[in-house]
Amino acid sequence: MTTLTTAPLAPLLDRLFAEAAAASPAANPVLAALSAEERTRLMRSKTDYRDFYARLKDLPLPISRNTGALLYMLARGCGARTIVEFGTSFGISTLHLAAALRDNGGGRLITSEFEPSKVVRARANLTAGGLIDLVEIREGDALQTLGVDLPATIDLLLLDGAKGLYPDILSLVESRLRPGAFIVADNADDSPDYLAHVRPPAAGYVSTPFAADVELSMRLG
Ligand SMILES: C[S@@+](CC[C@H](N)C(=O)[O-])C[C@H]1O[C@@H](n2cnc3c(N)ncnc32)[C@H](O)[C@@H]1O
Repeated sequence: MTTLTTAPLAPLLDRLFAEAAAASPAANPVLAALSAEERTRLMRSKTDYRDFYARLKDLPLPISRNTGALLYMLARGCGARTIVEFGTSFGISTLHLAAALRDNGGGRLITSEFEPSKVVRARANLTAGGLIDLVEIREGDALQTLGVDLPATIDLLLLDGAKGLYPDILSLVESRLRPGAFIVADNADDSPDYLAHVRPPAAGYVSTPFAADVELSMRLG
């Protein structure tokens, strides 16, 4: 048995995913009012992301269940003790990663979110899941909050905030990624500059698209 598949976490995740499905972004009036072009522009923007995500502050926008399971497996499989996450939202991905740390014997997860109401919800969910002791939620723009006081080595990085910032956030963390560290970038197709950074064979990664919307990369030595 694992922390992921037993109470209190398993029923909590069932509820959070069900609530997320009921609040689907597709049915959201803010997003429905945007043309496909404007939506893509905002998703990829390096300047308008704060306003875009403020409009979506009541939506959980979580990773898929499959990606959650992948995060747990990768973190368990590499024996992760130090994890950094860009984009906490309600904490659904954070719960999967913290569960892996618990089952690895402990560790430190630093996650970042700039919407204050989302920080409150994530903290409540991590408390309900019995995992808050493993997690440091840094409130503010991750360009600042992940620029200081990171662990000397990082075992896993999840990129799931503003897509246009993926290369910038990676540059804050990259020198600390240990050989064999994993990077999971959700919705990476909306970050072409990021894909151009991790995909070339000489870039120092093995990298591949995975499932519908994830780029999975492993840092080489
Ligand atoms: C797709 S959601 C994250 C979902 C979360 N990883 C999960 O699976 O439960 C993206 C989140 O990143 C936050 N965000 C976007 N850009 C950010 C930035 N520059 N700094 C901090 N948070 C950011 C948004 O407010 C939003 O809550």
